[in-house]
Amino acid sequence: MKLVCFGTLFRVSFLSFLILSCATKVDENLYRTKTQSVVNVFKTELQSNLLKAVQERGAENSIEVCSEISPNIEAKISSENNLQIRRVSEKFRNPNHEPDAWEKKVLQKWTDDLKNGKKLAVYSEIQNAEYRIMNPIVLDNPNCLQCHGGVGEIKQGTLKKIQDKYPNDKAQDYKLGELRGAFSSRWKI
Ligand code: HEC
Repeated sequence: MKLVCFGTLFRVSFLSFLILSCATKVDENLYRTKTQSVVNVFKTELQSNLLKAVQERGAENSIEVCSEISPNIEAKISSENNLQIRRVSEKFRNPNHEPDAWEKKVLQKWTDDLKNGKKLAVYSEIQNAEYRIMNPIVLDNPNCLQCHGGVGEIKQGTLKKIQDKYPNDKAQDYKLGELRGAFSSRWKI
């Protein structure tokens, strides 16, 4: 009798385990797909607005575009999709983009991956009832260097405006192909 009960219990627990692990898997894929499309919208809106402004009025007069457009897009996309999304970077310009310990760990992993010639992959983890996803941002457009490059690439006028608005700016001296940061998303689960 005891044996039968144990057998049934074992089967039921095993079945629940299977169902639960399948359910988590499906959700993870769904969250990853949803995040990818949100990130694509964010990237396209931000880059097209910013690069258009740089072309039309020069980098020096486009700083405000970046600092106003990005928080607006972040807020709009977050409320439309019921998630929290922001950009983070180890060398951040805006202090709101300072990574937390988990985000730092992922950025460090990607920096190592790039050094070892590996392709960067989206990284995700479930943490405290949240599904957290990081999508890498590689600096892959020469125009970015007008505001994130080294001495000589950022013009004096632009540098002055950046320093006035972001006195503790760290987001300089980048080279093409380097990891610039990430889109960091958090979904409540
Ligand atoms: C006209 C100047 C300008 C150009 C060009 C520019 N950025 Fe920025 N970038 C900024 C400013 C200003 C901020 C801070 C925005 C804020 O306050 O939210 C910023 C912030 C960022 C951040 C968020 C992390 C941080 O440092 O605060 C990332 C990531 C980023 N830029 C990537 C890029 C990439 C990639 C490109 C090229 C496609 C680019 N930027 C082009 C001015 C620029």
